[in-house]
Amino acid sequence: MSIIYHKETKVFHLHNDAVSYIMMVLPNGQMGHLYYGKKIHDREDFGDLLETAPRPMSSCTFEGNKAFSLEHIKQELPVYGTGDYRSPAVEVIQENGSRISDFQYHSHHVEAGKPELSGLPATYVEDSGEAETLVLNLYDSVTGIWAEVFYTIFSQRPVLTRSVRYINNGNRPVQLGRAMSLCLDLPDCAYDWVQFSGAWARERHVKTRRLTMGVQSVGSMRGNSSHEHNPFLILKRPDTGEQQGEALGFSFVYSGNFLMQAEVDAHDNTRVLVGIHPDTFAWHLEPEESFQTPEAVMVYTDSGLNHMSQTFHQLFQKRLARGYWRDRVRPILINNWEATYFDFTEDKLIHIAKKAKECGVELFVLDDGWFGARSNDFAGLGDWVVNTDRLANGITGLAERMEQTGMKFGLWFEPEMVNKDSDLYRSHPDWILQVPGRANTHGRNQYVLDFSRKEVVDCIFEMMAKILREAKVSYIKWDMNRSITECFSPAYGPKRQGEIFHRYILGVYDLYDRLTREFPRVLFESCASGGGRFDPGILYYAPQGWASDNSDAVERMKIQYGTSMCYPVSSMGSHVSVIPNHQMFRNTPLHTRANVAYFGTFGYELDLNKLTEEEIEEVKEQIAFMKEYRDLLQFGTFYRLKSPFEGNEMAWMAVSEDRKTAVVGWYRILNVVNDRFTRVKLQGLDENFCYENSRDGSRVYGDELMNLGLNTSDATAGQTPDDQVPCTDFESRIYILKAVERVEA
Ligand code: GLA
Repeated sequence: MSIIYHKETKVFHLHNDAVSYIMMVLPNGQMGHLYYGKKIHDREDFGDLLETAPRPMSSCTFEGNKAFSLEHIKQELPVYGTGDYRSPAVEVIQENGSRISDFQYHSHHVEAGKPELSGLPATYVEDSGEAETLVLNLYDSVTGIWAEVFYTIFSQRPVLTRSVRYINNGNRPVQLGRAMSLCLDLPDCAYDWVQFSGAWARERHVKTRRLTMGVQSVGSMRGNSSHEHNPFLILKRPDTGEQQGEALGFSFVYSGNFLMQAEVDAHDNTRVLVGIHPDTFAWHLEPEESFQTPEAVMVYTDSGLNHMSQTFHQLFQKRLARGYWRDRVRPILINNWEATYFDFTEDKLIHIAKKAKECGVELFVLDDGWFGARSNDFAGLGDWVVNTDRLANGITGLAERMEQTGMKFGLWFEPEMVNKDSDLYRSHPDWILQVPGRANTHGRNQYVLDFSRKEVVDCIFEMMAKILREAKVSYIKWDMNRSITECFSPAYGPKRQGEIFHRYILGVYDLYDRLTREFPRVLFESCASGGGRFDPGILYYAPQGWASDNSDAVERMKIQYGTSMCYPVSSMGSHVSVIPNHQMFRNTPLHTRANVAYFGTFGYELDLNKLTEEEIEEVKEQIAFMKEYRDLLQFGTFYRLKSPFEGNEMAWMAVSEDRKTAVVGWYRILNVVNDRFTRVKLQGLDENFCYENSRDGSRVYGDELMNLGLNTSDATAGQTPDDQVPCTDFESRIYILKAVERVEA
């Protein structure tokens, strides 16, 4: 049993071997929070953990009692305005203008497994023994609103998930002004706040600061989860590192506007809130209607950030991603975008594909420009019909030719968008998000289709499905190249305009759902100008995502390193591209570009015909290497060893399940003359195995590699070596370690 209920004391204790989450029904009937962290022994009464005290100037609930103040009590579903002055988890706006509610415990039940969230992505179980779910039924008697709070605890993972469903059982409509998915009150604030932020072409950089009194937050109000901030947050103890120490990870399974916030009060309590961003949200609930929040995921570890990341990787790989591709190594692809941009013909594409095939590439992806009047970014979006002036044999013919060259074929779509210069817009000018009488803002010359409307999603689905039914398409790159503005839908009345951002995302999920159901073998890769919508919500439908439009190897180190904090290597689209790089104009060695891209889904984004014979030989070796090790790289246990945010070197590694094979990637940004001897301490090896190093044939035991480290020094020390190619800037190496013998401890 992992969920215990003590009837006498009304205490709930959710636990597995790793974590405990404890809460109780408070004297005022609401739910109080008591503890979340490493597993502790159960007790009948944890009431002392409430930590109430009669503090001066506090607002108190019971007459004659100065100690019970919601201002200080840790809670599960707090509201504002009845003693608690912190940001609330829920706000119910009533017809009389009141925003006060009082969700009191009514009943609960425990279910084996984990229920699905209708219309929303969520983690799941395959066997009901994998998890247990507690559903608390809380009731606000004045409005008649029920709050069903879902807590799932996985039995074999240090993972808890939470979401809330509001049901209007009253006889008057209300508005939900906010409906956060998660609220966690922590009893102290001795944490570093770690966020994953950046911009287009530099997504998910690791940024750390100390938590302090007041509110700190990240979020998005752009309609997509955004390049700027990722819906992932870590609170770690200041001395927590990759291998040791406590940390809490919060991830939001959602692709639209979000808020992640920590509020530290005057007594050093920390309230964490995760949910749909309340500033762009208002949900109208008529009697009998309900609203389901997306799911938030919490991971606790006392074994460092690597362990936290591995927990997320395994959960997202096995119990968030789904379908045919979930457990399969990903095809090595070539994408024509940086090779041709809009300037291609069928023959040019076939020419690129043939060379790629000769090198061992498995999938050709035709990017933007194959449809409608799309010869630049001013026209064509919305017309998902092949442009036969450019591709005379249609997509069907091109796909057929690709298959004949021995390549699978993939295609780019941007389903949510439209150019005004398109047949779709000319026939349905009212299908975009727009405010009547007001100017419309564009992004990349395009407008956002109103995916809150079923008929719009239906129409796009039919266009896409027609192509997929007719042509041999094995892969889809689903792009989204602008954020949302003028988020207003003429299809809904004034009371429902606050719902449009969320209804839009539900429309996106609906289209993904329909396509993945009808075409289960098609591999979907998500994209939003690179990594603008790289989040767990999308990962549920598309098991991989183009991590960034920046394909420069040095920039990719930071992007993929930051991304790895939450997301598995198998989810990170990563390609080798040309030099000078198209985003950074930097020249990096071909081997370094590949050495970074191996820790991802791997592919090429260039015309291999333009490489020298020598380079082609190198590409062939890269592809052969990736084919041999991709299972290990994409699905092995991943460890970060050295951070590119902290120094001139980066290192990471992947270890096979049996710990007999490991691939280590070592990278140095700028060369260093006459350097010291350098070593990288490895992780995850078996200390009693002796490993042979692919680079020099040396044989060293796992304990030495993990405690003393792998020698990564250069022999050259700034002098021209007699027998080797000198190292330069942007140097990198891959070390393959294979166990050759085992000794007893
Ligand atoms: C976005 C994507 C690119 C490419 C272009 C095509 O920028 O991130 O990879 O597909 O669109 O227009």
